[in-house]
Amino acid sequence: MVHMSEVDLTSFSNQNVIVTGAASGIGKSAAILLADRGANVIALDMNEAGLKETVATITAAGGKATYKQLDISKQDAVLSCVAAIQKEVGQVHALANSAGISGKTGIMAENVEWADFIRAIEINLYGAIWLTQALLPAMKEAKYGRIVHLASIAGKEGNPGMSPYNTAKAGLIGFVKGVAKEAATFGITINAIAPAVIRTPINATVAKEVQDYMVSKIPVGRLGEPEEVAELIAFAASKACSFTTGFTFDISGGRATY
Ligand SMILES: NC(=O)c1ccc[n+]([C@@H]2O[C@H](COP(=O)([O-])OP(=O)(O)OC[C@H]3O[C@@H](n4cnc5c(N)ncnc54)[C@H](O)[C@@H]3O)[C@@H](O)[C@H]2O)c1
Repeated sequence: MVHMSEVDLTSFSNQNVIVTGAASGIGKSAAILLADRGANVIALDMNEAGLKETVATITAAGGKATYKQLDISKQDAVLSCVAAIQKEVGQVHALANSAGISGKTGIMAENVEWADFIRAIEINLYGAIWLTQALLPAMKEAKYGRIVHLASIAGKEGNPGMSPYNTAKAGLIGFVKGVAKEAATFGITINAIAPAVIRTPINATVAKEVQDYMVSKIPVGRLGEPEEVAELIAFAASKACSFTTGFTFDISGGRATY
């Protein structure tokens, strides 16, 4: 007899899933949804208090989750954290990488402090690359894996006043396109997600004129909700997402239709 969990390709039962940025916003919503669908969630973030809250929410609902504090802008820390997780849980089936910062906004490219440029790239791009590098060897060996990175509409269209962020997210989209092709015959799919503006704490520091500009570009006429993005992450991280790879999924209320 076929067990239900084997035919439900959206189920995460018996799967270990790493979620970064899990202390807040989209990552937190994704961690909760994935756990609700059966995943054993390993929640990563810099913010330990937020991680504890996410794990408490999941376990209170009967789900499985643990956390580790990690700064994804530190290469050695990323590699050793992934190795420690693999030692503890064995196979990592999926990664949902939602850690990110907007950086300072409302600043013209020529006025951006170089340290701020580097910081946005280290977190939003290098962190994603190192996580992918850390996970791919075991995923290739297991002939299964799902990797989902949070890019942004900013990486497709470019938001004025946010050049470090635009650069990092466009780089991430390019990285995903190529590495997905390299892993395509190993049962691994690697995709990105490009949200328009979503109601999360990241936007608390975004200048009002930048936020108004972003909402004005959205035909649906409102901010997206983190739970809406979590649904797309859950698909891209699931067995169901088996024939889409290297792609950047839109979730922009109609802003980007390409
Ligand atoms: N909210 C939006 O409008 C929006 C739009 C497009 C893309 N995104 C992307 O979605 C992702 C999630 O954003 P969000 O809206 O949930 O933001 P958020 O600020 O609510 O959550 C981001 C999380 O990343 C963590 N983080 C930041 N730097 C880190 C580091 N160096 N190491 C580990 N963790 C770190 C933060 O502590 C935080 O918990 C980001 O990559 C963001 O760029 C968000």
